[in-house]
Amino acid sequence: MLLNKTWRRRDNLESGAEIIEHKQGFSSGPVIRAKDLVVIKQGKTILKVEDISVFPGEVLAIVGPNGAGKSTLLTILACLEFPTKGAVFFRGHQVTRKNVLSVRREMAVVFQEPLLLDGTVRENVRLGLSLRGLKDDAERRVDTWLERFGITHLSGQMAHTLSGGEAQRTALARALVLEPKVLFLDEPFASLDLMTKHGLLKEFRGILEDSGTTTVLVSHDFSEVRALATRVIVLSGGKIQAEGTPDEISVDVLPKLKESVRPNLTGGWKN
Ligand SMILES: Nc1ncnc2c1ncn2[C@@H]1O[C@H](COP(=O)(O)OP(=O)(O)OP(=O)(O)O)[C@@H](O)[C@H]1O
Ligand SMILES: [Mg+2]
Repeated sequence: MLLNKTWRRRDNLESGAEIIEHKQGFSSGPVIRAKDLVVIKQGKTILKVEDISVFPGEVLAIVGPNGAGKSTLLTILACLEFPTKGAVFFRGHQVTRKNVLSVRREMAVVFQEPLLLDGTVRENVRLGLSLRGLKDDAERRVDTWLERFGITHLSGQMAHTLSGGEAQRTALARALVLEPKVLFLDEPFASLDLMTKHGLLKEFRGILEDSGTTTVLVSHDFSEVRALATRVIVLSGGKIQAEGTPDEISVDVLPKLKESVRPNLTGGWKN
């Protein structure tokens, strides 16, 4: 269930939380909200974002050229690092050094390189469940996700012998088996060849729609964004330049952006 066309947002100034007004009547705040973020590394400000929210069920794409700050922003939203200044809220509660581990247990991250461990595909997919002590039903859950990503037949194969596409399917299954509240993806399809990528994108879109997983996707390729995202944020120079639906961004925003701040458009954003 993708919510992009069915919700409106408004600011609730009193609680500081944005509220979603859903056509069907339910309303709920963002899963993640970050405010007044500043990240400074080696004396250089590499990220400056006043306000960003991730809403339940959406697939939010963060696009922008190399060095825009996309991975930095993902790292902060996924609570893998604290910002130099500002705060991150998970379901309305500020993330602190005390509660960060429990917050991280609600999230899963997949990077461009699958980072599989030595062992079989099955062992890799089961890994997160074991680490989080989720033993009940583990084997059935692993079976389900091996099946959904079409890698059941590879279950006993050693991870280091997999092709790039198979390895990335394994990494995605390992993340989704955790049924995370938020899934973070940092260019997970970037090193795949075009055919493999198109096949996986199509299947993955179906998986996200069926599971309704709230997702943050970092990409500099607009074809991925078109295939998956319900909302897009354009980042450049560490700042948010624009926000909208994939159509709004590709039709209204990207053509007006300076060449230097445009995401990679090889995915044919202009028809
Ligand atoms: N530890 C660090 N020290 C100094 N500069 C850093 C550090 N980490 C990141 N940067 C700089 O911050 C900027 C943003 O980096 P980031 O990795 O977030 O960009 P990105 O948008 O993900 O780029 P790419 O598309 O190449 O992955 C870059 O200019 C990078 O050189
Ligand atoms: Mg990056």
